Amino acid sequence: MIYDLEAALSLTYAWIKAGHVIFVIFWIAGLFMLPRYYIYHQEAAPGSAEEKAWIERERKLRTIIITPAMILVWLFGLSMAWINQLWLVGWFQLKFLIVLLLSGYHGWMVGYGRRLARGERPVSGRALRLMNEIPGIAVVLIVILVIVKPF
Ligand code: HEM
Repeated sequence: MIYDLEAALSLTYAWIKAGHVIFVIFWIAGLFMLPRYYIYHQEAAPGSAEEKAWIERERKLRTIIITPAMILVWLFGLSMAWINQLWLVGWFQLKFLIVLLLSGYHGWMVGYGRRLARGERPVSGRALRLMNEIPGIAVVLIVILVIVKPF
């Protein structure tokens, strides 16, 4: 019986990890796309039909994909951290800091979309292109931390 419970628990953990990685992919894919949409959006004439189409595409990407995906990544990730009691482990602490910063980037990008929809253009296309590198850098660091666990 005890053996069965252990098997069930490790299967549950495997499902949590699978869910985590699946929604990581949705979240990061969406984060790669969103600033790209903003760059094209900013090139459209204010008030044009093209601009309205971008506002709608951006809204859908945010509300259907990236925000729910981010919430699920957090829920699955925190569950695994709790199961493994990783709070004081070095690689996890650094990963935690990076995902906090990435979530801040996400929040800023969501807010930026609302400002764009109001007709503001606070940041240049070039700056958006540079900022678009941030999720890629975060992914490289996070994957090394979780797979190699260097410390
Ligand atoms: C949002 C907050 C996040 C938390 C709290 C979190 C936490 C965790 C935890 C505790 C594990 C299990 C690690 C182990 O014990 O070996 C894990 C696995 C993993 N995480 Fe996250 N994570 C988060 C976000 C992310 C992000 C943004 C990425 C990718 C960019 C990511 C990629 C992975 C991968 C690839 C694994 C699987 C590693 C393996 O095969 O063991 N996580 N995460």
